[in-house]
Amino acid sequence: MFDLDPKRIPKHVAIIMDGNGRWAKKHGLTRPQGHIEGVKRVGDVMDFSRETGIKVLTLFAFSTENWKRPQAEVEAIMKTMCMAINAQMPKLQKDNVRIRLCGQRDGVPEKVLNDLDAIMRKMEKNTGLIVNLAFNYGSRIEIVDAIKHIARDVVVGKLSQKNITEEIVGKYLYTKDLPDPDLLIRTSGELRISNFLLWQLSYAELYFTDVFWPDFTKAEFKKAILDYQKRERRFGKVSLQK
Ligand code: IPE
Ligand code: IPE
Ligand code: MG
Repeated sequence: MFDLDPKRIPKHVAIIMDGNGRWAKKHGLTRPQGHIEGVKRVGDVMDFSRETGIKVLTLFAFSTENWKRPQAEVEAIMKTMCMAINAQMPKLQKDNVRIRLCGQRDGVPEKVLNDLDAIMRKMEKNTGLIVNLAFNYGSRIEIVDAIKHIARDVVVGKLSQKNITEEIVGKYLYTKDLPDPDLLIRTSGELRISNFLLWQLSYAELYFTDVFWPDFTKAEFKKAILDYQKRERRFGKVSLQK
């Protein structure tokens, strides 16, 4: 029906993959079953990103606040994620995908870190889509960590206080070397950011859909991009200046 404008494809899309639990409830399934179904859509959004020319896909998989969930659920999420990544390895390799971790390593079980590190090492020479996995991620703690590192570098004389710019601050965040997201998508009807990329989303276009994450197919992703392409991004200017 409507086709995407190849000249206006967002470079970086960030997604808050929400609604696995409610999807499971709606289908009379358990929450872990919702996560298993949800992880399948990750492959679809990666394929869609490659096919349309999106360069960076940031996926919010687990927040620093998600540790507050019942332990059994936390374990189910970790297990589902590791199993999915391991099972998808050959395809990720074939598709030339790179994976980056965006989050705090502290607090993540050793086994999970080892699995993720091994996978990232195998794919570090790949040159295609960058999948930036926000795992044990919280934006405020990311900013606190950046401030600590900046203060330390000023104290040891590596950085001078008068040279601290927005660009320099960006280099102390987990997303250093990545462009800011152009588009943020959140599924499941929640209209909030939930401590995600507070600095980086400053000028992102926001797209909210009621669809639960396990129902977020390629067709739903396309709807989000079509909506994005209708927006006028002014960055503080007026239309005529564009
Ligand atoms: C998102 O789905 C997955 C994670 C937060 C890990 P939820 O588990 O938050 O699903 P709902 O919001 O309870 O439906
Ligand atoms: C945000 O979803 C985190 C992830 C999708 C990983 P939550 O379900 O944890 O967010 P809240 O608690 O509803 O804000
Ligand atoms: Mg949720």
